[in-house]
Amino acid sequence: MADTERTYIMVKPDGVRRGLTGEVIGRIERKGFRIVAMKKMLIPQSLAETHYGEHKGKPFFEGLVRFITSGPVVAMVVEGPGVIAEMRRLMGATRPWEAAPGTIRADFATTVDENIIHGSDGPESAAREIGLFFKPEEILS
Ligand code: PPS
Repeated sequence: MADTERTYIMVKPDGVRRGLTGEVIGRIERKGFRIVAMKKMLIPQSLAETHYGEHKGKPFFEGLVRFITSGPVVAMVVEGPGVIAEMRRLMGATRPWEAAPGTIRADFATTVDENIIHGSDGPESAAREIGLFFKPEEILS
């Protein structure tokens, strides 16, 4: 069995606005993963720029920061065996038209900029992103 890991998952402002938070949480829980921390929050500009720092300089960076700060997100830490890669699989590809049928992005999104959900892309980004959004005492394992 895959090692137990933690990943950072976020329902983006479009997902919250469209009332899809429960749908995303339901898919995570029905899969058998555990949500060990969760909060609804407005992301400050500086945190958004740090979170998406690897994209600084790309043409979509400013729009991405504007979008992710445009309304509340639901931030989560999700735990389970192989959860980092498996959540990426459940989310589907970043570009929804490339996402496999049945994935969150294939089912609910049409554009790359408003694609419902964010999930860490590997162990290092998971540790970094969890640390950016949650204090250790907010994680209830
Ligand atoms: S890339 O193309 O390799 O730089 O993209 P990737 O690392 O997969 O993720 C890019 C994140 O930026 C969001 N975004 C866009 N990506 C590409 N093109 C455009 N125009 C764009 N606009 C926004 C995309 O949704 C990814 O967000 P996260 O939250 O990381 O999934």
